[in-house]
Amino acid sequence: MALDISQAANAASSDTLVFAAKDAKDLKGCDVIVITAGLPRKHGMSRDDLLLTNAKIMKIVVKEIEEQAPNAIIVVVSNPLDVMVYTALKVSNFPKNQIVGMAGILDSARMSHFILEKLGYGAGQIDASVMGGHGDDMVPLPNFSTVAGVPLDAVLSKEDIKDIVEKTKNGGAQIVKYLETGSAYYAPAHSTSLMVEAILYDKKEVYPCAVLLEGEYGYENIVSGVPIMLGSSGVEKIIELKLTAEQKKLFKKSVSSVKELVDTLNKNNFFE
Ligand code: LAC
Repeated sequence: MALDISQAANAASSDTLVFAAKDAKDLKGCDVIVITAGLPRKHGMSRDDLLLTNAKIMKIVVKEIEEQAPNAIIVVVSNPLDVMVYTALKVSNFPKNQIVGMAGILDSARMSHFILEKLGYGAGQIDASVMGGHGDDMVPLPNFSTVAGVPLDAVLSKEDIKDIVEKTKNGGAQIVKYLETGSAYYAPAHSTSLMVEAILYDKKEVYPCAVLLEGEYGYENIVSGVPIMLGSSGVEKIIELKLTAEQKKLFKKSVSSVKELVDTLNKNNFFE
């Protein structure tokens, strides 16, 4: 697989060489590490069904990274995403800026896709915005989404916007349903590559990502997806949007779902 990717990169005139790491020691000195380790969900499973198995895997992987590359910025992709970011932070001594979850970019890309599908124009000009956990309770934000700065409600009906919101929330499950034995690859991979480039090249770009909240949006000690500024230090800034009362309610529900999973881990004495 690594050889194939490396040769594809060189076919595209990239100067990249890709190697498969065979041992944790191969991580030594890495600047950015992406964790996708864990089981993917199958059709009929929610991301939450993966909780205990993937938390155990996350613990092993993060501890190894801590030994080999304590200065690395870690991008977590494993599901259930928000609680995996939380787990990675709690089982290690990494500061909160060094661990960040990939989900909001993917969910926003899915929302952009559904907007373009409905509109039929504006390709490449759609900026969709999604907050909250990467689960069934994620919070698509139509009023922060635009087509070249034009608000969605100027070009789409209320029903269309509602449909886009529902399809976005179900976007990952739709792909799992088609694939049957795995989850999406390409959109998660590209979303992750945007984050890696922002970190490696210190781009200081703004993206929705899963981060530890400590007071932001009124929440403590929980991970959820919010807009952040991403640069060479990882999470360099958390941005607080002014949400409507309804959006606050939805965000609260989304945060509660992540808290329930953290409670399940606590009940299983996972962090002891
Ligand atoms: C998805 C997985 C990556 O939403 O969570 O496709």
